[in-house]
Amino acid sequence: MRCCHADFALAEGSDPGFTIGMPTFTFGAGVLAEAGENARELGLKRVALFTDGKLAAGEHVAKVKASLAAAGVDVAVYDEVKIEPSDASLQHATRFAAEGRFDGYVSVGGGSVIDTCKAANLYATHPAEFMTYVNAPIGAGQRVPGMLKPHIACPTTSGTGSETTGISIFTLTSLNAKTGIVSRRLTPTIALIDPDVTRSLPANVVAATGFDCMSHALEAITARPWPLRLNPARGVARPVSQGANPFSDALGTQALKLVGEFHVRAVRDASDVEARTEMMYAATLAGIAFNASGCHLPHGLSYAVSGLTRDWHVNGYPEGKTLVPHGMAVVLNNPSVWRHTAPRSPQRHLDCALALGADAKGATSADAGEVLARRIIGFMRATGMPNGLSALGFGEADLDALATGAEPQYRVIRNAPVDVGRDDLIGLFRSALRYW
Ligand SMILES: [Fe+2]
Repeated sequence: MRCCHADFALAEGSDPGFTIGMPTFTFGAGVLAEAGENARELGLKRVALFTDGKLAAGEHVAKVKASLAAAGVDVAVYDEVKIEPSDASLQHATRFAAEGRFDGYVSVGGGSVIDTCKAANLYATHPAEFMTYVNAPIGAGQRVPGMLKPHIACPTTSGTGSETTGISIFTLTSLNAKTGIVSRRLTPTIALIDPDVTRSLPANVVAATGFDCMSHALEAITARPWPLRLNPARGVARPVSQGANPFSDALGTQALKLVGEFHVRAVRDASDVEARTEMMYAATLAGIAFNASGCHLPHGLSYAVSGLTRDWHVNGYPEGKTLVPHGMAVVLNNPSVWRHTAPRSPQRHLDCALALGADAKGATSADAGEVLARRIIGFMRATGMPNGLSALGFGEADLDALATGAEPQYRVIRNAPVDVGRDDLIGLFRSALRYW
């Protein structure tokens, strides 16, 4: 069996198994209209529909609401989801969920909406002090004690993969740090993944979310292999994300092939239905892949970047506050990270570059990081990404603060294929300041 591949050889004390979680998902144009029959199939009579203020009056929410109404399902809309949610916004959403006594949930939106819905469902179903389920060591990291109410997730962007994962990410305001709640029980019951939603997305959103998807796949494939993972929990307590594994390899590789072929096209032409559809599918595959294996350095570093950026705004995102789109913060660290980690598993990095369509003729193991980094830099330039962290206003004087900002992310950073200390973090941020 290929899972006995040398990269996954069991070591002394290795967990002999890995677990893959995902929702039942339906992919295809128009499937948002299946929300009602799915809710009825789940026995739901009254649901909370989570979305954000911008989407609330839009066609996707209207389609889902009409489908639920046609199925005889009562709907109460919560449209106060914050883009880039915080502990306060999750608790606000929880109050709505708890007071409404719903028997199920529907989310229509990007990662922020779906993540907020997961958290509200959790705290309304299993009430607890907020930090109870938050990842340790920031929170108490307690296990979710039972099943959640059914949740039908309907993504409206093509990148976060939140509809496929048991992960809810938010900013803990007191630390100005991103953290999360991770449990297989947070995974939506059903995902309705309708590529029609991508037709109306602004190019900047397609660019950033596509890079998020690309990085999910790359991090899934290059993570510390599952037999070497540091969290020893076994059986039903096995962590959601367990390190690189053959299932994530397969899905991640296919996602990278799609990104290599379709990402730039999807950004440049909103009418390119084929490209936008394939990117939506890539996001689904990469979501399942990284949910099982976990992210590592690019995501860990991105949270410091988004938390410390002083003045940045991108068209297509909420106005009035500094916001680095998640996928942009992630891709800005990518080339720097791959140059650093490639020596640990050069063939994996080279295979990723090839899947992305890199010309690697004559490349040796020693070139793997550079070949991958250059391919990604090419995509960044083709899609209008900033030229490294310096374009966001960071310089040599900020490296120390960036490293400090990344330190709360050791949960994901420790999933990297190499051990990373503070000096390494500073070096990684320094190498990400400028790429061309
Ligand atoms: Fe992400």
